[in-house]
Amino acid sequence: MKAVLLLLSIFVSSEASVIWKDCVPSTTAHPYVTFTSVTVSPSPVVIPGNVTIGVQGTVHHHFGTDVKMVVHMDKYLLGVWTKVPCSQNVGSCNYDNPCEFLSAFKSSGTCPAQLTAHGLPCTCPFNPSNINLPPSVFEVTQISQAWQWLATGKFRVQAEMIHGQKVVGCFHVEMDIKRSGHSGGFLFG
Ligand SMILES: *[C@@H]1O[C@H](CO)[C@@H](O)[C@H](O)[C@H]1NC(C)=O
Repeated sequence: MKAVLLLLSIFVSSEASVIWKDCVPSTTAHPYVTFTSVTVSPSPVVIPGNVTIGVQGTVHHHFGTDVKMVVHMDKYLLGVWTKVPCSQNVGSCNYDNPCEFLSAFKSSGTCPAQLTAHGLPCTCPFNPSNINLPPSVFEVTQISQAWQWLATGKFRVQAEMIHGQKVVGCFHVEMDIKRSGHSGGFLFG
């Protein structure tokens, strides 16, 4: 659950201060995944709160445990993009087997209803298909200390899907996050 909503949060974009792009290199002749549209509101995203996310794209190629994921995350601090180190699987992390995270859904037996409602799978493997998630509400609740640093600010995240030495999928987003109300940690859940 945590990982998928983290991924969804990476897919976040659009509106005034949210910028996203598909960053798969032009040297990749056959990307596995491409994105054509991503929308997110409100901007800034308020946590805890409800976030509306829409995603359109295409899975071009079957993939599963053959892909790795590399995430670069920076926070804008005192006018400088500063790397957010990997901590408890959040931040600039390498995920050698992202399918492992998604397998949490398999054991709990449920994908988020927002995904299943639109025929979107949430566990590996993924088969060629269209991704069409109309703007859907995800509730971000209060939970973990590990996410304390997320509190408030401007972030940029680049997530690269890697097969062999090739980047076969890439998503880049810059967004503002604002914290509502209480102190204490929180987590996408
Ligand atoms: C999200 O929206 C629902 C329905 O409007 C509401 O009950 C819930 O309190 C909201 N969640 C947060 C964290 O604001």
